[in-house]
Amino acid sequence: MKLENYIRDIQGFPKEGILFKDITPLLNDADATKECLKILAESLKGQKINKVVGAESRGFLFGMLLAQELNAGFVPVRKPNKLPYETISASYDLEYGTDTLEIHKDAIQKGDKVLIHDDVLATGGTAKAVCELVEKLGGEIVQLNFLMELTFLNGRDKLNGYDIFAAVTY
Ligand code: PRP
Ligand code: MG
Repeated sequence: MKLENYIRDIQGFPKEGILFKDITPLLNDADATKECLKILAESLKGQKINKVVGAESRGFLFGMLLAQELNAGFVPVRKPNKLPYETISASYDLEYGTDTLEIHKDAIQKGDKVLIHDDVLATGGTAKAVCELVEKLGGEIVQLNFLMELTFLNGRDKLNGYDIFAAVTY
């Protein structure tokens, strides 16, 4: 089964000139979702992980499934003012301006072995901010794990030194 067959191109979303990779056909198919989860988890064979961190919102989908698959706890990283308890935050650059992500202060303990998951690695800004949050709390990042990587946006350049895995690359 090719995961690419379950990811469709949407021209001009969310803005003109952007070719959006839509994973909803994949989510809509139980076998494709299982296959995708298997590929993401197999990249971690033999590695000990006790927390999976997923970035709002599309990182929650496979992030939660991966956490269960790996028998690890799940940690949501959210957009500002969504988390109810005490948080720390990290900002990252957008095309115009900046955005912020937050994590609960007690979500990661010092020495936790952390997997960071998101659906897409594009410019790398989101992943970098999530790394910053995890490391501020003393977590050790084992891998940055993505369903897709858009290699032409060079996100890896921002993420030097981390092990990066993507199930599908464009
Ligand atoms: C998208 C995508 C990744 C991020 C990748 O999320 O789901 O999280 O952008 O881009 P980057 O590598 O350039 O940072 P978005 O912020 O659009 O929000 P969503 O997941 O809630 O749709
Ligand atoms: Mg996202």
